[in-house]
Amino acid sequence: MPSLFDPFALKGVTIRNRIAVSPMCQYMAKDGFLNEWHQVHYATLARGGAGLVVVEATAVSPEGRITPSDVGLWSDAHVEGFASVAKAIKDAGAVPGIQIGHAGRKASANRPWEGDDHIPSDDPRGWRTIAPSAIPFGGDLAKVPEAMTQDDIARVRDNFVAAAERAREAGFEWLVLHFAHGYLGQSFLSAYSNQREDEYGGSVENRGRFLVETLAAVRKVWPEHLPLTARLGVIEFDGRDEETLSESIELLRRLKGEGLDLVDVSIGFSTPSAQVPWGPNFMLPVAERVRKETGLPGGTSWFISDPRQADAFIREGKLDLVFLGRPMLENPNWPYAAARKLGVDRAAWATLAAPYAHWLDRYRAA
Ligand SMILES: Cc1cc2nc3c(=O)[nH]c(=O)nc-3n(C[C@H](O)[C@H](O)[C@H](O)COP(=O)(O)O)c2cc1C
Repeated sequence: MPSLFDPFALKGVTIRNRIAVSPMCQYMAKDGFLNEWHQVHYATLARGGAGLVVVEATAVSPEGRITPSDVGLWSDAHVEGFASVAKAIKDAGAVPGIQIGHAGRKASANRPWEGDDHIPSDDPRGWRTIAPSAIPFGGDLAKVPEAMTQDDIARVRDNFVAAAERAREAGFEWLVLHFAHGYLGQSFLSAYSNQREDEYGGSVENRGRFLVETLAAVRKVWPEHLPLTARLGVIEFDGRDEETLSESIELLRRLKGEGLDLVDVSIGFSTPSAQVPWGPNFMLPVAERVRKETGLPGGTSWFISDPRQADAFIREGKLDLVFLGRPMLENPNWPYAAARKLGVDRAAWATLAAPYAHWLDRYRAA
């Protein structure tokens, strides 16, 4: 079995190790455009030695942003900033990935450190939200969305396709469809948010239709030799876990049939009343089961931070990739630190750029 520092190949892409930076919104953009913040942030993460760096949830349309400060790829004018970030990631030896998504009923919110709640309806910074049904998430996200018409559904699917084409034009080699965390894709799948009576609601086959159609449409424009992946909330932790998990596995099998190459196993976050059992590595058993029962390559995140455990998950064949979020914010050189802790060969940890690696290596040996 491979270890954390062995390469991972999927389709025509080879990642230098099994460490992936999980997508993390920075909420630092204006009108969807990337700026110096993003440039430095992503270059730093890639230079730290991760194999894959996934750029944060990128809105496929203005109304699909979580906050007014989200990044977006809804126009050709946005491509340039993303191209420069993709290049910086690639120049540092990592594979440039990007997550595209639509926030659905959770859109039009204040930034997490400015309330994390819906922007009031009379505030011009906010906008009209859309979702499968006119049901609010609840709690601080109480705004009632408009139920999408079938024209809205087709339009958002086309927005995903156009954003995928722009991501490719910008040089990204790994695409993640954001079907998790209670945003639009997830909210079609979940009965908490989807009470539609047409072919997009009701049975799991119907609730999964928007996700299947969107993935199939994106696959037509996203090159066959590049990985097309999805992040799916497969479990809600709401007491109905077996049901939700088996529905998600059924959906993932359909998505696989349409060309899905890998799944990042995550949480639904479709209801504020979920009881998530936070703790080190708590998603591992879920990810393991999803991987086994779908036959899809897979990874997960959530409180994985110990290098020995991360390495063991790969060696034991439980995961193909380990996605790291906050550990990489805490220390972008986590891969280097992990390699030292695991005592792996210099060739593995010398993924650090020479201006750092040369000195660290020399003084380590002394
Ligand atoms: C600042 C921040 C922003 C995030 N933004 C996104 C996002 O854009 N897309 C996404 O799928 N998950 C997002 N998440 C979730 C992370 O990708 C990750 O799954 C989560 O932080 C758990 O992993 P960790 O314990 O390694 O941090 C975000 C998390 C953080 C901390």
